[in-house]
Amino acid sequence: MKILWGDESIFKDESVFDPEYLPEVLLHRDRQLDSIAVNLRLAVKGKSPIHTVCIGPPATGKTSCVRFILNKLRDFDVKSVYIRCLTYRTEYNIVSKVYEIVCEKLAPQKGVPISSMLSDISESLSSVIVLVLDDVNLLNVAIIDDIPYDFCKMHEEFSVRIGIICISTDVRFTGMLQKSGSVFHPDDIYFPLYGECEIEDILGWRIERGFYSNAVSDEALDEIVSLTVKHGDLRLGLYLLRMSGISAERRASRRVEVEDVKNAYEGSMKVFVAKSISALNSDEREVLMTIYLIDEEVSSGDLYTIIYNEVKMSYTRFYEILEKLERLRLIDVVMGSKGKRGRTRYIIKRYKRVMILEALKEF
Ligand SMILES: Nc1ncnc2c1ncn2[C@@H]1O[C@H](COP(=O)(O)OP(=O)(O)OP(=O)(O)O)[C@@H](O)[C@H]1O
Ligand SMILES: [Mg+2]
Repeated sequence: MKILWGDESIFKDESVFDPEYLPEVLLHRDRQLDSIAVNLRLAVKGKSPIHTVCIGPPATGKTSCVRFILNKLRDFDVKSVYIRCLTYRTEYNIVSKVYEIVCEKLAPQKGVPISSMLSDISESLSSVIVLVLDDVNLLNVAIIDDIPYDFCKMHEEFSVRIGIICISTDVRFTGMLQKSGSVFHPDDIYFPLYGECEIEDILGWRIERGFYSNAVSDEALDEIVSLTVKHGDLRLGLYLLRMSGISAERRASRRVEVEDVKNAYEGSMKVFVAKSISALNSDEREVLMTIYLIDEEVSSGDLYTIIYNEVKMSYTRFYEILEKLERLRLIDVVMGSKGKRGRTRYIIKRYKRVMILEALKEF
């Protein structure tokens, strides 16, 4: 049997492909990095920074760019608190997390009013604070509105110097703010999807860092780039690079070839579908399941009738869900049915039925 021994790996540094890895260079994001830095510049001078919203589809570098700038702020007297809203979903959880970092002690038990925790946070702060709320669109709408309001009020009531950065995949985020709309006036920074050449550059940089030279054939890279473009998800490209490398090593080969990419791709779809589904709530999963249980192409009007007979959901809510499923690339919504033009919207399934239904069983 041919194998590559420990020191014969084709990876120079496999950690370069970790989802949490933050590269030293974020290619094709100069404009966004500059805008975030300009908005935070006042923090370095001890003044309140400009509130910011980073908006764009998944895997467009929003989190990476904000982390990159937060790292730069470490050299200054600025307190930064980064919160992933996937983990901290309630107003109490979020305020507690800020409390623990700023006050450097455990947050009080539930029952203590949030206003009193905010007042303690304000008293403990001696510097500017930058609060990052990542994946803020995963919070429910009422909380999305409460949080910026709570923290902006700290500025109004206690003169706390605060800049809030919200990161959202939902373009309608700012429109959801009602109560906080009066005090929270963020600058929107848009993160578009990467184009084919940009994807090739970004993956090329990782290949240089992660693999020994000539370890990835041109054909294999082309295949990875085209699959990444097709799915519109840079994370898929990074995942395919790592898994193709592992596949090549299993063949005891020193070079990643197209067959390795194909092997890796087959396994990857399940992981990606499961990840997208984990971002859905129960109503959203119900709509997804209904779509994938219908055999033919279905119009959005017919689908709404079916859904409405099961769960009495408003048309606006139903439409929001369709948009979210489309944003997560679980479906496509197109005008007119196959090849025909028309104003009716049709739902197209992006995956095989069995893959989605199997993945839904896990939730
Ligand atoms: N410009 C870039 N240069 C290098 N790597 C990048 C760049 N943009 C994104 N990446 C990489 O792509 C992956 C996804 O990026 P990131 O997590 O920043 O995206 P995101 O917009 O926050 O996505 P999501 O909305 O799903 O949270 C990360 O592994 C990151 O390192
Ligand atoms: Mg992110």
